[in-house]
Amino acid sequence: MNSPVMQGLNLNAPSYVKNAHLIAWVADMAALTKPDHIYWCDGSDEEYNRLCQQLVDSGTFKKLNAAKRPNSFLACSDPSDVARVEDRTFICCENKENAGPTNNWMAPNEMRATLQPLFDGCMKGRTMYVVPFSMGPIGSPIAHIGIELSDSAYVAVNMKIMTRMGKAVYDVLGVNGEFVPCVHTVGAPLQAGQADVKWPCNKTKYIVHYPETREIWSYGSGYGGNALLGKKCFALRIASNMGRAASEGSTGNPGWLAEHMLILGVTNPQGKKYHVAAAFPSACGKTNFSMMVPPAGFDGWSVTTIGDDIAWIKPGADGRLRAINPEAGYFGVAPGTNLKTNPNCMASLNKDVIFTNVALTDDGDVWWEGLEQDTGSLPDHLIDWQGKDWTPAIARATGENGKLKPAAHPNSRFTVAATNNPALDPAWDDPAGVPIDAFIFGGRRSTTVPLVTQGRNWVEGVYMAATMGSETTAAIAGQQGVVRRDPFAMIAFAGYNMSDYFSHWLQMGEKLSAADVAVPKIFTTNWFRKGADGKFVWPGYGENMRVLKWMIDRIEDTVPGVDHPFGVSPSYDELNWDGLDFTAEQFHTVTSFDNAAWTAELELHTALFTQLQHNLPKELEATRAQLEKRLAA
Ligand code: OXD
Ligand code: MN
Repeated sequence: MNSPVMQGLNLNAPSYVKNAHLIAWVADMAALTKPDHIYWCDGSDEEYNRLCQQLVDSGTFKKLNAAKRPNSFLACSDPSDVARVEDRTFICCENKENAGPTNNWMAPNEMRATLQPLFDGCMKGRTMYVVPFSMGPIGSPIAHIGIELSDSAYVAVNMKIMTRMGKAVYDVLGVNGEFVPCVHTVGAPLQAGQADVKWPCNKTKYIVHYPETREIWSYGSGYGGNALLGKKCFALRIASNMGRAASEGSTGNPGWLAEHMLILGVTNPQGKKYHVAAAFPSACGKTNFSMMVPPAGFDGWSVTTIGDDIAWIKPGADGRLRAINPEAGYFGVAPGTNLKTNPNCMASLNKDVIFTNVALTDDGDVWWEGLEQDTGSLPDHLIDWQGKDWTPAIARATGENGKLKPAAHPNSRFTVAATNNPALDPAWDDPAGVPIDAFIFGGRRSTTVPLVTQGRNWVEGVYMAATMGSETTAAIAGQQGVVRRDPFAMIAFAGYNMSDYFSHWLQMGEKLSAADVAVPKIFTTNWFRKGADGKFVWPGYGENMRVLKWMIDRIEDTVPGVDHPFGVSPSYDELNWDGLDFTAEQFHTVTSFDNAAWTAELELHTALFTQLQHNLPKELEATRAQLEKRLAA
């Protein structure tokens, strides 16, 4: 054992860890955070089982009924720690303009001075877990390594599912390899003899990124994207910086993209396969779309999942954009998931799952809102996510706005390995990634935005993605259901100035076209338009296949579409309606354009561009002006 002893604490570094920079950094962080123990995760199943048992013993995990849900657990968080905290998330680069107006910014020195006293002694009474992980297949030229130091065993076991985590990472890291250092604490040191709580956290929270030095520091939360630092913090905020930096200083190199996108494969009855990457805002159905089961009328078609949340996209040897999923698991929203909305996901959840903030049934299984659609009735009794008795009568009496009080938190989650997914694409782990034929951008809008529109060219597609608006969901702490601009579904995840991000996309298109490479087609979708009765008109889920098929027809140039001021949309008879009773009138409701609504919408685009005027690419303003002209005509 290679065991430097510092201030009475044994560093305990295993002999297979050879990276001197890593060992010195762990020693420094231990000196700062002062844990009682340091534990180096090896990623083995034995370790996973041991840590899960430890979480059961400490009361954080409840082991579910093994006959119903083998090797699965339920954790319920503190009610104050249930979602990503965007208002506490910071991009700390030297120059405020590089973070841009859509990110919270603080100068690195000021942030370091703020965090220093918070991290000093923050792990007292706890164990520091050293979690080595690879985003992307271990050893792949497109993968990147991170090391997360965390005082949460819950984080360590979730990271085992969500990333390629363990010993093999050290082989790639070698003596001199680079890694992104990620420090995470729940911010709840224990005094000698102080009993722990089930979900330690702190009401002060900081989720901090230093893009220039590529570091992540997270304080005070144990939940999801705040704490599993490979996901939003590394694979989106830091990686988006890395992808753009790769294009700098070289006129020909387009760099690469780190995007909030699912990736799927869709194969037609003739066996021709297409790949699509789709960006929808948080909790707007990315997991469902990525695991979609084609409906009646689509015999011979299949959809397979490469990823459900994040895509890293780089030009391959032939110049075509290829995408990998940097993650190895799904941290998906449970409510609304059922056999109708996502049968593949339901099958994925049969075993080996960590559930967070769903409800517990009397027979030791889990339950969430939406499952009543499979069983036809609500359960008679549950323990809700806050540990309280729940019955339909209690829920009726305590619910708000005429709705039943939910038994599962609206942002409750499952963590499950990708390999549990019966629809997993055979190439999901291919280091070379899959070639992308189309990008989809889809907001959640009750009005205005039609079911599907294709941009007439790359710039128009980038414009549509840049100006996307969406109603906010429970994935974000704070107000829900308000329309906000969510460019590229990246408002919370672009780790640098949004206008520079738009330029990066535009330049990517220009550079690929200059090299004679066909760029993917760009579409926008909106599954969420409502009728006069306030109900969704489009049936969604597997029926989205009808729209996906139209996109493929556009790629193959076999349907003309209907040209309108904002792009190209299908006519009623261009969609395959076999097996679905959806009238031309209903189709009109989800595809019609309301001039007044679009005039108001364009004003919101103008407001966005005013906010982003520093470095806003002139092509976008020119596209807006053209749209305005077409609308007036
Ligand atoms: C997520 C999110 O957890 O977008 O994927 O919030
Ligand atoms: Mn997401």
